[in-house]
Amino acid sequence: MHWENETENLVFDKRTLLNIAKLMRKGIFDKMEGLISQGKEANVFLASQGNNYVAVKIYRIETTNFHNRIKYLLQDPRIKKVKHTQYDLARAYASREFKNLQLAYELIKDVPRPFYHEGNVIVMDFLGEEKVPYPQLLNADVSKEDFLDLFGKLKRLWEGGLVHADFSEYNILKGPKNYIIDWGQGLSKKSEMAQEYFKRDVENLIRFFKKRDVDVSEAEEYLATFKG
Ligand SMILES: Nc1ncnc2c1ncn2[C@@H]1O[C@H](COP(=O)(O)OP(=O)(O)OP(=O)(O)O)[C@@H](O)[C@H]1O
Ligand SMILES: [Mg+2]
Repeated sequence: MHWENETENLVFDKRTLLNIAKLMRKGIFDKMEGLISQGKEANVFLASQGNNYVAVKIYRIETTNFHNRIKYLLQDPRIKKVKHTQYDLARAYASREFKNLQLAYELIKDVPRPFYHEGNVIVMDFLGEEKVPYPQLLNADVSKEDFLDLFGKLKRLWEGGLVHADFSEYNILKGPKNYIIDWGQGLSKKSEMAQEYFKRDVENLIRFFKKRDVDVSEAEEYLATFKG
């Protein structure tokens, strides 16, 4: 973890700092240990309270793009509006991910347990060992058992009314269980495109396990007769 090497994306804006402060005041964690991951829309940090670790996902308000553009827009009165909208968007994503995590936790358990949500920041179980996150499925050995486990989870989520909508070998951490992470895109089964997204999730599962020479006929047959 290198705070030193990261610059632009780790410059916290005031609202993010305030949200972190609120969580610290509540005693959720008292130390930010470092950066776990820098994604397109969010950064994930490891935080701790003594020996207890949590993952803190912070949806970025100011993207790199935004930073690049800001100098040209400084005189523009609309900049305030842009900032406002960026925060609202970040907060909406965090809120959605938090709610999806709560429901997914009820339905399948094997997701990071969500603890707190404050604006654009969510706090959840840290899934890893010795400050190192479990590997993404992409970087793990997999078996037919893993396939059946994940296929079962996707079906249970669907039956419970939830679609991940960004399911892939990148958004699964393999530890003692196969944990499904990254729920910001998740949506209700009742949403307009839910069936399409669900089918795409299952197709991603099939594609990955096929590449790893696992027999995926159960899922192929399921999709072939899938009626929603
Ligand atoms: N609860 C967690 N425990 C441990 N590590 C985590 C946790 N949540 C996320 N991570 C780590 O951070 C990475 C990115 O998490 P996530 O996919 O939720 O964020 P993201 O912003 O969507 O990133 P990307 O844009 O790269 O998909 C994960 O691959 C994992 O290594
Ligand atoms: Mg991801």
